[in-house]
Amino acid sequence: MTKVLIATEKPFAPVAVTGIREVVEEAGYELVLLENYTSKDELIKTVSDVDGMIIRSDKADKDVIDAGTNLKIVVRAGAGYDNVDLQAASAKGVVVMNTPGQNSNAVAELAAGMMVYYVRNFFNGKSGTELKDRTLGIHAYGYVGKNVARIAKGFGMHVCAFDPFIPRTEIENDGVKCVDTLEELYKTCQFISLHIPSNSQTKQSINYALLSMMPENAVLVNTARAEVIHEEELLKVFADRTDFAYLTDIAPANREDLEADYSARFFATPKKMGAQTLEANVNAGIAAAKQIVGFISNGDTTFQVNK
Ligand code: 3PG
Repeated sequence: MTKVLIATEKPFAPVAVTGIREVVEEAGYELVLLENYTSKDELIKTVSDVDGMIIRSDKADKDVIDAGTNLKIVVRAGAGYDNVDLQAASAKGVVVMNTPGQNSNAVAELAAGMMVYYVRNFFNGKSGTELKDRTLGIHAYGYVGKNVARIAKGFGMHVCAFDPFIPRTEIENDGVKCVDTLEELYKTCQFISLHIPSNSQTKQSINYALLSMMPENAVLVNTARAEVIHEEELLKVFADRTDFAYLTDIAPANREDLEADYSARFFATPKKMGAQTLEANVNAGIAAAKQIVGFISNGDTTFQVNK
């Protein structure tokens, strides 16, 4: 019997698992559940006889992929697939997919929520400021960026975006100002919300030079990936600029230093939680299950990222 594994260190909401189970069992497959696992060995052992695997930020490296003797498809229930070794998958003929857009509203709402939290002094009871009429720059205008723009416009913010991969008209049709260079985005926007993936071009790309360009009372919001930040240079920005704040859903390695020295200007969620909503779990989890059935039963490779 065809087996589909859900391997999640950070489990889906139970209702999402029920939905995934329904899709999988309706196709005549068996669902295998590995939640809250704590070692790679557990994953390696469990993947050894499954045909398809649904993961979140779980690491599907070469060892894991090679251990999947029958493995045909890995679906990352989410947007970023930097946790999957695409080369190892391709070498073994394993299809890798993501589920674009399915959890993006959840992440966007968290980005907006962190901005409100910061301008209201982390809800400490003291007088704060407002987001209305402030400028927000969206760095990469994919599904999450687009949702952040929609929410920020509701706040009355002036929204700009930079994304060389998205047609200008798509950005402008949303009532968002499309800027031509990254420098222009960072120079003109008080708030920047990051939505770039983590890859060889973007790793450590958010650096001192870029952050120093930001106007007075600069706020950097990161719900994307920790790896895109140059952490050493971020520290230098904090030291140089008393008006700079960093709000993130993916804590940097130097989290304790930042919390100790800059507690009024730094906030990191205790655990990556952008996509951790019931709705996002259901949307992304069920989409992943349907994509696995679509591929195994009908050869549908829509959303394949290792073509
Ligand atoms: C994504 O890439 O979809 C988000 O970063 C969410 O990741 P998560 O599924 O681990 O919460």
